[in-house]
Amino acid sequence: MSKVKITETVLRDSHQSLIATRMTTDEMLPILSEMDKVGYHSLEAWGGATFDSCLRFLNEDPWERLRKIRSEVKNTKLQMLFRGQNILGYRHYADDVVSYFVQKSIANGVDILRIFDALNDARNLRCAIEATKREGGHVQAAISYTISPVHSNEAFANYAKELESMGADSICIKDMSGLLTPYAAYDLVRMLKDTVKIPIQLHTHYTTGLASMTVLKAVEAGVDVVDTAISPMAMGTSQPPTEAIVATLAGTEYDTGLNMEALNNVAAYFTPLREKYMESGLLDPKVLKVDVKGLTYQVPGGMLSNLVSQLKQQGKSDKFDEVLAEVPRVRKDAGYAPLVTPTSQIVGTQAVLNVITGERYKMVSKEFKGLVRGEYGKTPVEISPEFRRQIIGDEEPILGRPADALAPELDKLRGEIAQYMEQEEDVLSYALFGPVATKFFEYRKAKKYGVDAEHADAENKVHTV
Ligand code: CO
Repeated sequence: MSKVKITETVLRDSHQSLIATRMTTDEMLPILSEMDKVGYHSLEAWGGATFDSCLRFLNEDPWERLRKIRSEVKNTKLQMLFRGQNILGYRHYADDVVSYFVQKSIANGVDILRIFDALNDARNLRCAIEATKREGGHVQAAISYTISPVHSNEAFANYAKELESMGADSICIKDMSGLLTPYAAYDLVRMLKDTVKIPIQLHTHYTTGLASMTVLKAVEAGVDVVDTAISPMAMGTSQPPTEAIVATLAGTEYDTGLNMEALNNVAAYFTPLREKYMESGLLDPKVLKVDVKGLTYQVPGGMLSNLVSQLKQQGKSDKFDEVLAEVPRVRKDAGYAPLVTPTSQIVGTQAVLNVITGERYKMVSKEFKGLVRGEYGKTPVEISPEFRRQIIGDEEPILGRPADALAPELDKLRGEIAQYMEQEEDVLSYALFGPVATKFFEYRKAKKYGVDAEHADAENKVHTV
């Protein structure tokens, strides 16, 4: 047995899960050099929803954030979350966009790319994996963990084997919503360790109250790296607290060897920030409670709260139990897709439509049609031809790799935003988030112009005096 390594998530998943991804770069920068002294395996610091949030809510350039973090973190690896062919967006992008995004992520400072696909369709990871290898990055291929009649440890192990043969440098068990129970984690990690030669990392969430126990059993089964969040930003829908895991393993054969004094300084830094988020309402105490429904229904906590708000908007809150019972039926019809972005939203919305219209599939969302048509890839179980016909009629299903149907996009996009381009990376921001990126570019330009105008004013004054 060997030491267990720690990935700290406070700069990405922790604040994505607790405060809707609103931590700003300025809030991160003062503590980064101290975090660099802790001895973490890596800092998860970029990707996921952070990119969208920078542009959409924070008026920040996500690339600039990455460069600033990199300049402060000199010794520790930086890690990002990458949604396969969806990159950091919500649809499939052409291969040229995927490859270029990977190239620029690594050029700007990312060391490890955690790459996953909602359907566990390896074809959706291929382009990102190849690009990462080409650029000299570490490919961490992730398994979207889920529970269904067709998902088993054997199936996950076969998928891990496939990812290893595609060039993965490590495997991550990605348990988006804390569905992985401690003993199930033990068995799964053991099976993966027996099946592949590369390191195994565990990513889970505290949502259902199990995460620390799950981490401990995974450690006993030989997991190599675990994800944790510094205590002020841990638990609830976030990760288990770093210090608690470090203390649990201290003095054992699994000892993480992390610098406790530096860890305490990191915790002391984030404590007042937590208070600030609490006071502003950004951190809602609701996300901190143990979500027992998640355990009972085996659907992600975030998806449950989405269902609640969709029903509330329709004035149909009384239908919640009916919708909960409908989710597994829709999921079965849709080939037992794991419930993670974007499939959790697609399945959840369709379940709501089925219940509130009073007739199953009377109304079908565009995205659900896309899922059934094969636009997101191959579902774990093939969708029955009858059901497919019911949903998409005579439309041609996509049976190949979805991105094969997409023409290169970059040149066209470059033309569209020529007047805004200040750096090569801008075309990638625009490729992913179109009008949201353009709005940010306008803001950036106005800010620059504003600053210039002030200077001009000052010069004028000097001149007149
Ligand atoms: Co997560």
